[in-house]
Amino acid sequence: MKITVVGAGFYGSTTVQRIAEANYADEVVMVDILEGKPQGLALDMMQARSIEDFDTRVVGSNSYEETANSDICVITAGLPRKPGMSRMDLLEVNAKIVSEVTRSLVEVSPNSILVIVSNPLDEMTALAAKVSGFAPERVMGQAGMLDTARFKHFVAEKVGARPQDVVALTLGSHGETMVPVPSQVTVQGKALSDVLTAGDIEELVQKTRDGGAEIVGLLKTGSAYYAPSSAAAHMVKAIATDSKEQMPVCAMVNGEYGINDVYLGVPAIIGAKGVEKVVELDITDEEKNELVQAGDTVRAKQADVEQFI
Ligand code: 2OP
Repeated sequence: MKITVVGAGFYGSTTVQRIAEANYADEVVMVDILEGKPQGLALDMMQARSIEDFDTRVVGSNSYEETANSDICVITAGLPRKPGMSRMDLLEVNAKIVSEVTRSLVEVSPNSILVIVSNPLDEMTALAAKVSGFAPERVMGQAGMLDTARFKHFVAEKVGARPQDVVALTLGSHGETMVPVPSQVTVQGKALSDVLTAGDIEELVQKTRDGGAEIVGLLKTGSAYYAPSSAAAHMVKAIATDSKEQMPVCAMVNGEYGINDVYLGVPAIIGAKGVEKVVELDITDEEKNELVQAGDTVRAKQADVEQFI
């Protein structure tokens, strides 16, 4: 199993670390344009092997040759937000970077599965799908895992439970039209509406939508990467181990929820073939309407982005 991660920033390098320490891959290649950075970080991680007890080889490179025949490629390349910016403000600059990176990757790894994390997420996933020419199931974006983990965190903190005992879900976009789905949330098996008031739930939904921006505001430079890299690495592991786990990801939706032809956050079964099935859950009519609206908004933006290819 060979995995490539493009981008040796905090998000990329932490993703590489998490994959390497999980010890199921033979090799992880970290690519970045900065000379020495991926090589230095790779060497540092390799020197941790005897302590952390993993065998995965970590290789740093400035060239895509080294990535040839990867099974899975993660694209983290691009700029993060600055305080006050929306993810959409990154559209033009990151579209150019993600197009170029995708082209370089698929040239040497034509059979890989792509996992996109660059922002604005849903648009960059659609762009990578277009540029790669890959079948839709072989391209997915990371957002739902992260937004759901944030939702679980906020619910857990509010009610005094462990986040591991909270079941939660977010759908829609990784942006303004994110759709946290309270009807699917349970705490230790109890429905959220039995545990919290409608006002409290709305507050947690908003905190989840603003989850990334709150961290950008605190950090001042750069954006979140611990939870994002956990989410990306979890998706990569599901593909690599053919786990068939159901998780929210940005995937091509064609017919499910009455939505067509858009990369959008939905629950899906993830395995060796990539997105093996988009799952239709029994969500409320209001949640479904929000999801349809998110689909319409994102579809329009995804069409805009094609001008940067
Ligand atoms: C976030 O929400 C990086 O978009 C990512 O933190």
